[in-house]
Amino acid sequence: MTDFRKSLLLDRVLNNEGYLMVTDFKPNMDAVPADNLPDHVPAELVRDLNWAFGYVPVDYDEPYRETERFFKGGAPRIMYVPKAVRGQVSKGAWVVTHYDDITHVYQDAETFSTEGTVAYQWLAGEKWPAIPLGIDPPDHMKYRKLLNPFFSPKAVDNLDGKMRRNANLLLDTCINGREDCDFSYEFARIFPVQVFLDLMGFPQDQLEPFLDWENKVLHSMNIDIQLPALRGILAYLREFIGTVRRESPEGITTDIVNGMVDDRPITDDEIMGIMFFLWLGGLDTVAATIAMMFRRIALDHKMQQYLRENPAKIPDAVEEFLRTQPLVNSQRLVKRDTELAGMKVKKGDWVICLNTAGNFDPNEFDSPREVMLDRQPNRHFTLSGGPHRCLGSHLARRELRIALEEALPRLPMFSLKSDEDRRVHPGLMSVRNLNIAW
Ligand code: HEM
Repeated sequence: MTDFRKSLLLDRVLNNEGYLMVTDFKPNMDAVPADNLPDHVPAELVRDLNWAFGYVPVDYDEPYRETERFFKGGAPRIMYVPKAVRGQVSKGAWVVTHYDDITHVYQDAETFSTEGTVAYQWLAGEKWPAIPLGIDPPDHMKYRKLLNPFFSPKAVDNLDGKMRRNANLLLDTCINGREDCDFSYEFARIFPVQVFLDLMGFPQDQLEPFLDWENKVLHSMNIDIQLPALRGILAYLREFIGTVRRESPEGITTDIVNGMVDDRPITDDEIMGIMFFLWLGGLDTVAATIAMMFRRIALDHKMQQYLRENPAKIPDAVEEFLRTQPLVNSQRLVKRDTELAGMKVKKGDWVICLNTAGNFDPNEFDSPREVMLDRQPNRHFTLSGGPHRCLGSHLARRELRIALEEALPRLPMFSLKSDEDRRVHPGLMSVRNLNIAW
């Protein structure tokens, strides 16, 4: 079994220039000097926000606690980070943290474009965009029209029984005859991939290669490791699409390959754009959220007991776990000069929506730092907002719900085995090992 935390996460934090050392963790909101700032960016808005992007591990029960400082006196409503932060953003970016500003960016998708966001395939020389995320309205809707039915609540209901059976088979190996397990590695990491294989019609023996490629593409942060993995998954998807054309196996890939966009047959590049993005978007996100939910209730036996005694409350609880444990901060490319949070931003600028702050804005959420399992309303950004709201949101919620509903009756009251597993990267990296004991 791999200890990801030791093999990968700490290396990354320690090795990358500009990232804070684990032992140096002092969240910093001071203005920092920056070279080559665009003329329209006031120097006093430039901040070091590495601590807020999930690069720095924390041990707190509530991993996003530090984003509270964005709502305290003195914090500017909009800031600018001069260095690359992640993915395709290779220059500086504006950062918004308040609920209203983030909503504004998500809803005005024509000004704040998704072009070029999450485009790992470009590293491997591909030219097509991620679909639907990399397509702006109005074209974006054509793809959502094709894909929405496969991810509707009814479609998810149809998968429910199979998902529960898969979950229980995995739980057998985690629980039977044992007093502890690594719930992240042995359950959370695998369950969403199995669901995805079934949904898409991939053979089950793809489990290990998918996990391996996914881990390398999303987490290595090293192009020499990412590239071969990217080529591996892209070649596999191309070959699989060929098989689907010949054999039409069960699963939604067959429907996608035979799909129509704008009353014409879908093209090969469009199919790749969809298949690749589904692969990228639907696996690690769910795995990380499951691990974070179980971490949270391992730390709080009262909360764990409440869920055991009130299983009907699990759907509401899932929503609150999603709000309090957001994973992704979205990026947008500005398409025309405009105003944002009182600041003039220009065509070609990047904007980062810090969902990890907006989900805790006291103007939207009462007692925002409190985990209130029955919170209503609960309109958070963890699954984004506006036209690009997560296509897989119903499926994701159901997977999270099933994990809790099926595991809690089978697991006695559990705790973290050691404080080491309290440590998380508050982002997509989250918690790769979660040793629990009962
Ligand atoms: C807890 C689990 C999940 C989280 C936290 C999550 C989060 C997100 C976020 C934040 C976005 C929008 C990104 C942006 O605005 O830049 C998004 C979009 C998307 N997600 Fe998810 N996601 C999850 C699960 C899934 C699953 C299970 C699937 C499908 C198998 C999926 C497929 C998609 C797709 C296709 C989009 C693009 C939607 C569009 O552009 O119209 N996601 N997701």
